[in-house]
Amino acid sequence: MTTDPTPAAKAAPLTVRGLTVSYGAAPAVFSADMTVAPGAMTAIIGPNGAGKSTLLKAVLGIVPRLSGQVEVFGQPFDTQRARIAYVPQRASVDWDFPTRVIDVVQMGLYRQLGLLGRVTGRHRQLALDCLARVGMADFATRQIGQLSGGQQQRVFLARALAQGADLYLLDEPFAGVDAATEKAIIDVLKSLKAEGKTILAVHHDLSTVPDYFDRVFIINKSPVAEGAVAQAFTQDALQRAYGGRLAAGLLDQLFPQAQTAVPPAFPARPA
Ligand SMILES: Nc1ncnc2c1ncn2[C@@H]1O[C@H](COP(=O)(O)OP(=O)(O)OP(=O)(O)O)[C@@H](O)[C@H]1O
Ligand SMILES: [Mg+2]
Repeated sequence: MTTDPTPAAKAAPLTVRGLTVSYGAAPAVFSADMTVAPGAMTAIIGPNGAGKSTLLKAVLGIVPRLSGQVEVFGQPFDTQRARIAYVPQRASVDWDFPTRVIDVVQMGLYRQLGLLGRVTGRHRQLALDCLARVGMADFATRQIGQLSGGQQQRVFLARALAQGADLYLLDEPFAGVDAATEKAIIDVLKSLKAEGKTILAVHHDLSTVPDYFDRVFIINKSPVAEGAVAQAFTQDALQRAYGGRLAAGLLDQLFPQAQTAVPPAFPARPA
């Protein structure tokens, strides 16, 4: 890496300022500011359609920004691309063409290989090691389209691991996976964190936020709250983001103390 390490090393892995994204007339993300803390696991949470996937895609340049700046480790995104791994929301890739699991993981190596670089035994071993980390080594030669959704999810995580990134962007890594796969994935993410990597994951299961994550970014088109779980993951912030869409009893479960002290979660709306 030829960039000056002094300011970049101290900069936040990801900074978003004034981000607005629109697919049509109404913005999907409006005026979002976000600062992702280094070496932490941050959850992006919010209801369906809140703009969580759009936020990640706009950071990555997959969808165009109407306005806003994105910096990665204090530098423009384009210069830091190789330091970011992205695992898209499940089912967003249709594997009609035959591709083996090992080939998918080796795709994560292409920046190290260069355009014309050849996969050597060392690369293949690295890809196999990454598959082993997600418990999928036995599936290396299987066609990716012949795996279950949860198994595919593990393979995409292995591809992200192969990339050796510093910042991991994951869009609902636990969606539709069984308890064993969820455990396998969270263990891998925690080991990445232990290596000093930064993880930003869209996450739907509010009940596991305090266990899995250090920080939250709560959004409903515009940011609602951001910070350490203990400060920002509050009943008030969740109610502002989700309105009446929270499952009954969830707030009681998440905030048992608060329930005795505050009025009912959803008071009748004034006429
Ligand atoms: N390609 C697209 N074209 C038009 N509208 C889109 C497109 N992708 C997303 N949208 C709209 O933008 C809004 C935000 O979508 P986005 O996928 O970012 O939400 P999300 O928070 O990730 O939701 P979910 O929890 O369901 O994954 C939604 O209203 C959605 O319908
Ligand atoms: Mg989404």
